Amino acid sequence: MSAKDQIQKEKVPHHVAVIMDGNGRWASLMGKPRVFGHQNGVQSVREVVEGAGEIGVEYLTLYAFSTENWKRPAYEVNALMTLLVQTIRKEIKSLVENNVKLLSIGDVSKLPSKSRKALEEAQKATAENKGLTVILALNYSAKWDITRATAKVAELAQKGELEPKEINEDTFRSFLSTADFPDVELMIRTSGEKRISNFLLWELAYAELSFCAKYWPEFRKEDFFKAIVEFQNRERRFGLTGEQLKTLSG
Ligand code: FPP
Repeated sequence: MSAKDQIQKEKVPHHVAVIMDGNGRWASLMGKPRVFGHQNGVQSVREVVEGAGEIGVEYLTLYAFSTENWKRPAYEVNALMTLLVQTIRKEIKSLVENNVKLLSIGDVSKLPSKSRKALEEAQKATAENKGLTVILALNYSAKWDITRATAKVAELAQKGELEPKEINEDTFRSFLSTADFPDVELMIRTSGEKRISNFLLWELAYAELSFCAKYWPEFRKEDFFKAIVEFQNRERRFGLTGEQLKTLSG
């Protein structure tokens, strides 16, 4: 039985996040430059977006470029930005046809203007779509986001527009760039690395983590579905005991 056939429709995670890792290592294995890995990673992005749409995931966040990625060689950063523009332009039609809404998180003001423009165009074209929401994390890091949210909270408090006693988990959460999305239920990382790497630290608090040994360019829809099945077979306790959970669900 395929992994897709094992998925229980009523237990599909609402929000899945992916650290697409291993493009460079995969390219080296092929005896090619790192950029070749990124180019081939685009097909995996396509598969995961399609797969997520097919099973009814509502939000899919992809870690496409971290605040730390600027430290990579200039030619690789440029290649990634160009690839982003090309991919977005090429996929706009298909996103619209498939009812996919495209959004981003991160400080996109620091991206080259051509990348910003492509992103804005795609966001505008898909704004009314009601199916899967794909969120590209671009020039994003969770520490950046939490720091930024804290500065906003401090500013409002200083102006007397927010009382310190009004600051709780929910109010703080509303200042994060992910305020409009639910917390992540499943986080997938490819390439065998088992780290969070400054990705969605707040939103991952109760996420199930799934690590796949395949490099990102090898990751296919069936691998995505396998991670969903693995998620569905885990017992999510949210700090409760297994016994308490049984009583609650029984
Ligand atoms: C990690 O592999 C991958 C990235 C930093 C970039 C991901 C980009 C893509 C898949 C291409 C385009 C994406 C979109 C959304 C259009 P790595 O370079 O860190 O690999 P390594 O760990 O083997 O060096």
